[in-house]
Amino acid sequence: MNLNIVCIPGDGIGPEIVREAKKVLDAVAKKYGHVITYKDILMGGASIDVHGVPLTDEAIADAKAADAVLMGSIGGNTSTSPWYQLEPKLRPEAGLLAIRKALNLFANLRPAVLYEELAGACPLKEEISTAGFDMMIMRELTGGLYFGERKTVEENGVRKAIDTLTYDENEIRRIAIKGFDIAMKRKKKVTSVDKANVLDSSRLWRTVVNEVAKDYPEVTVEHMLVDNCAMQLVKDPAQFDVILTENMFGDILSDEASMVTGSIGMLASASLNDSKFGLYEPSHGSAPDIAGKDIANPIATVLSASMMLRYSFDLDREADAIDAAVKQVLEDGYRTIDIMSGNSIQVGCTQMGDLLAERI
Ligand code: IPM
Ligand code: MG
Repeated sequence: MNLNIVCIPGDGIGPEIVREAKKVLDAVAKKYGHVITYKDILMGGASIDVHGVPLTDEAIADAKAADAVLMGSIGGNTSTSPWYQLEPKLRPEAGLLAIRKALNLFANLRPAVLYEELAGACPLKEEISTAGFDMMIMRELTGGLYFGERKTVEENGVRKAIDTLTYDENEIRRIAIKGFDIAMKRKKKVTSVDKANVLDSSRLWRTVVNEVAKDYPEVTVEHMLVDNCAMQLVKDPAQFDVILTENMFGDILSDEASMVTGSIGMLASASLNDSKFGLYEPSHGSAPDIAGKDIANPIATVLSASMMLRYSFDLDREADAIDAAVKQVLEDGYRTIDIMSGNSIQVGCTQMGDLLAERI
């Protein structure tokens, strides 16, 4: 198969982790007889430095022409980087929001899994961590508060900022359908998270989710208020299978869920549109403080590449090979510093990539 992949190395540790993910992809291509063509594009700070904007039309066109996009991370230190002196729409994060919108990537899949080998990293009590958990957070990614109209004005000498949270039923329905489809391939449970005791957008969310649920009689649906969900994630994470939620709640809850695994350097994500196209990126950020030191954990990006093979190319066998290589490397005792413990063997980013590629 020919795989036409656009890469966004981005900022901070992004270039290092994408390089290792490519190494693993190349090993997969060699073993299973695929041909991968890569094209790098600039986004975030890297694009600001060259073009003055975080994402150019040419970069969007390149991404659109690809079969899938593999991304590292974007952004810098918000207190010290000159990128954050620019007006908000020219900052690195604006590039990420813009590419999500331009490619219509409305469904964000963020798995949060507790790896048996890394259970010690889970910050929760042992009785909770030994139960383990494996959830998929489905975050709506192109609507709600992050894409509503916003402005800052001054009225009678008083500064006022306005952000708007809008959802129409079609935006809710399409992400709900994706959520239920994915639940059908998992443990068949959807927890829809909202703030229906306060927000109209949440009340519509709940109504539409219930309508969609009628087409999935095998799936158990429950509704949970977002503040309660934040508590349940630390009290009893094993209760969750698919968490289905809107943009901002998903942003926050997915970070919470990843922290509960204790190993955010291990968590991948996929952002999908209505076709097979997707953008795949680690759930963690650009970690500018450790950039260029060859100590970053490339596994989240490698697992994002695995999700890419699975969701955009239907190459399940190849994706399984990557997932198995990750498990094997952990079993063999290798760890990057973020997941280091006891008498494991500490390795850097490059060596972790080599070890994974060898195990394909
Ligand atoms: C994420 C990030 C982004 C978001 C930021 C960088 C705009 O936090 O992918 O979760 O909030 O969507
Ligand atoms: Mg976030």
